[in-house]
Amino acid sequence: MKTSRIYAVHEMRRRARRRLPRMIFDFVDGGAEEERTRRSNESAFADLRLWPRPLEGTGEPDLGIELFGRRLSMPLVIGPTGLAGMLAPRAEIAAARAAAAAGIAWCMSHGSTVTIEDVARAAPGDNWFQTFVYRDRGFTRSLVERAAAAGYRALVLTIDNQALGQRERDIRNGFRIPPRPAWSNAGDLLRGLPWLARHGMRLADIRFANYDEAGFDARIVSLGARIGDMLDPAMNWDDVDELRRLWRGPLLLKGVLHPADAREAAERGVDGVIVSNHGGRQLDGAPASLHALPHVVEAAGDRLTVLHDGGIRRGADIVKAIALGARACLIGRPQLWGLAVAGEAGVARILDIYRDELVRTMVLGGWKTIADIDAGAISPGRTWPLTVT
Ligand SMILES: Cc1cc2nc3c(=O)[nH]c(=O)nc-3n(C[C@H](O)[C@H](O)[C@H](O)COP(=O)(O)O)c2cc1C
Repeated sequence: MKTSRIYAVHEMRRRARRRLPRMIFDFVDGGAEEERTRRSNESAFADLRLWPRPLEGTGEPDLGIELFGRRLSMPLVIGPTGLAGMLAPRAEIAAARAAAAAGIAWCMSHGSTVTIEDVARAAPGDNWFQTFVYRDRGFTRSLVERAAAAGYRALVLTIDNQALGQRERDIRNGFRIPPRPAWSNAGDLLRGLPWLARHGMRLADIRFANYDEAGFDARIVSLGARIGDMLDPAMNWDDVDELRRLWRGPLLLKGVLHPADAREAAERGVDGVIVSNHGGRQLDGAPASLHALPHVVEAAGDRLTVLHDGGIRRGADIVKAIALGARACLIGRPQLWGLAVAGEAGVARILDIYRDELVRTMVLGGWKTIADIDAGAISPGRTWPLTVT
């Protein structure tokens, strides 16, 4: 599959849609309930305008940043997405390799279809690990210890998923794991056969591989029931303290939207927060990440590194999030669309698209380095009464 003709993230999404059974496409694309939060993640960027100063720029802007002591070639991280193996076999290895080749970080999901150890062996890069807090705290500990032993550099605790959001497209489609698509129409059947062939009919491999070793049943069937059985909805700040004791490297909380939580995280010795609403898949009605971002940045001061997650579809979106104080941005769905279309090459193409757009935006806007992008990069507008410096 030639990816060079895919010119934008939305084009990758369109092609992924054509190649996937509807049930799989919707699982990735969808959000919770009315999907208001999911939509607002993207529309928040549309409401914000850049304020270019073309004469200040350079033809070759420097996109590099420092993140937790490592150099990244651009301010982008591939975020954790469970069950990526539904989109391509051994997808996590493909995505981690593409990230390493592009010089950025990749975060493994708790729910990866390849184990912590297998990815570390096959794709040694700037790999992070995302966990939840399980009812069985021993299992939480064992995942974290395995990640440390395998050389993962940062630990991400996702705090917004202790009960599963109601994803109504999945209910409608009868989504289950391993997927057993209901071939309800001829178009879906046609799309589904090549997808099945790519997986060599081995749909049973689509499971939470990291759970195998711990003696849990790695088959899932119902995601909601699985999460309900295993995760502890009573998770609290004591669990953050416990992880802080366990993990020596950078510790981040993902799913922070409220400035008070950023302040508390800093008190507890957390290193970074990821401003996120889980791509609108959890609490519908939560704010767009971009709307929460400036509040979290202000609360964090210089005590925490703040990352943005949600709705990044253009290089210009990265510039906007950085202008509001993010150090870097995570992407979720776009890399999954890349995986569905062309595996590792598809993810590589997605990263190239972001890089090209970031360069073009910085050239046109007159920003030479990422550090040049500050609040002055945002144009005052009706919806954004920001103070301009
Ligand atoms: C299919 C899918 C699976 C996801 N699985 C996880 C997960 O296991 N852990 C987690 O912290 N976030 C998970 N997320 C959320 C993403 O990390 C990220 O927050 C979200 O996708 C960002 O929004 P974007 O898709 O608009 O870039 C998942 C998202 C998708 C689409």
